[in-house]
Amino acid sequence: MKRLLLSSVTETRALGEALGRNAQPGDVLLLEGGLGAGKTELVRGLARGLGCVGEVRSPTFNLVHIHETGRLPLYHLDLYRIDAPEELLELGLDDVFSAGSVAAVEWSERLADFTPACALRLHLRHADAAMSARQAEWVASGERAGYWLAAALGEQL
Ligand SMILES: Nc1ncnc2c1ncn2[C@@H]1O[C@H](COP(=O)(O)OP(=O)(O)O)[C@@H](O)[C@H]1O
Ligand SMILES: [Mg+2]
Repeated sequence: MKRLLLSSVTETRALGEALGRNAQPGDVLLLEGGLGAGKTELVRGLARGLGCVGEVRSPTFNLVHIHETGRLPLYHLDLYRIDAPEELLELGLDDVFSAGSVAAVEWSERLADFTPACALRLHLRHADAAMSARQAEWVASGERAGYWLAAALGEQL
């Protein structure tokens, strides 16, 4: 497990942007962390890094938003409202995790058995009482996820 302190929302977005610039078709970002942890802010950066135009909001009600104005299609999921894994079957996860697009999943722990084997898992949590810093911890599953993160972090040095 590796860690990084994101001391402001700007830094969280910048990490997302670097991931977006370095994303390849089929990449999956699994986002964990409670309400207000910064998951949507990170996806805002990701969308920007992919070159998407337009607003990124948490798809809490629709569960899935597709952003198609960037270099690759971006599927943005928010599974906060998923109570049982069977509800995921209606989401069309084959499209979401397809080889030609990028996926970012908020509340990804709710994917349960549907969690892709190869993915970059990022956990965000409040790091201080001042509320503006976030601790990011990640686990890269699969070779590609490791390269993706290394490329993004390398850009930020
Ligand atoms: N370092 C930080 N990273 C991300 N968000 C931050 C940070 N510091 C403050 N914030 C604020 O915290 C909130 C995070 O909200 P959001 O990204 O919607 O969280 P989530 O999607 O995890 O529920 C935003 O209002 C954002 O401005
Ligand atoms: Mg959110």
